[in-house]
Amino acid sequence: MAKLKVGILISGRGSNMAALIEAAKAADYPAEIAVVVSNVAAAQGLKIAQDAGIATAAFPHKGFPDRESFDRAVSAELEKHGVGLVALAGFMRIQSPWFPAHWKDRIINIHPSLLPAFPGLRVQQQAIDAGARISGCTVHFVTADLDAGPIIAQAAVPVLPDDTADTLAARILRQEHRLYPTVVRWFAEGRLSVAGSRVAVAGVPQGATLLFSPDP
Ligand code: GRF
Repeated sequence: MAKLKVGILISGRGSNMAALIEAAKAADYPAEIAVVVSNVAAAQGLKIAQDAGIATAAFPHKGFPDRESFDRAVSAELEKHGVGLVALAGFMRIQSPWFPAHWKDRIINIHPSLLPAFPGLRVQQQAIDAGARISGCTVHFVTADLDAGPIIAQAAVPVLPDDTADTLAARILRQEHRLYPTVVRWFAEGRLSVAGSRVAVAGVPQGATLLFSPDP
């Protein structure tokens, strides 16, 4: 069967992108990374993608008169590569409402907190400052409301008493790298359906769990 073509949007390091590229190397993985697009020409992740032989494109957003014209250019690039799923992976550019409407139910994001707690930026510090005992990451469908689209899956990690934002971020990131490829697989297998703010995951094998947590 033809593999789902995934377009990844990044702005920087690209470690989640790299995890997706790695997962997609498996012959039985149902998705392939068709293109990586960045709004930052110097994004480290672009080099990783190029070294992996994946098509890349950079659209420095300063070159566009407004958000929507930038979004339309990115969208045209994704469509040129036959993309069926857009995965935001550290894409630090707020999109116009046009973009998530155009890609409705075909665009996902990974966020380093257990949404709806701690949307926005510097979220690991937010979790520490709030005294949270558990944090983690969330993969959700993207809507026009920032970090508020239907939740697909989450992974939890402890917040330890001596954590800094960096140590907590690193613990969460390890789970991000497990969770994102899993969710892209589910999407590619047609398991996900959205009803309002809830997402159902069909046919998760018996005994498997929707609660992700660190390996003991
Ligand atoms: C990750 O923590 C992701 O959850 C957030 O931005 C960070 C991107 O990291 N949206 P990377 O570029 O994937 O390494």
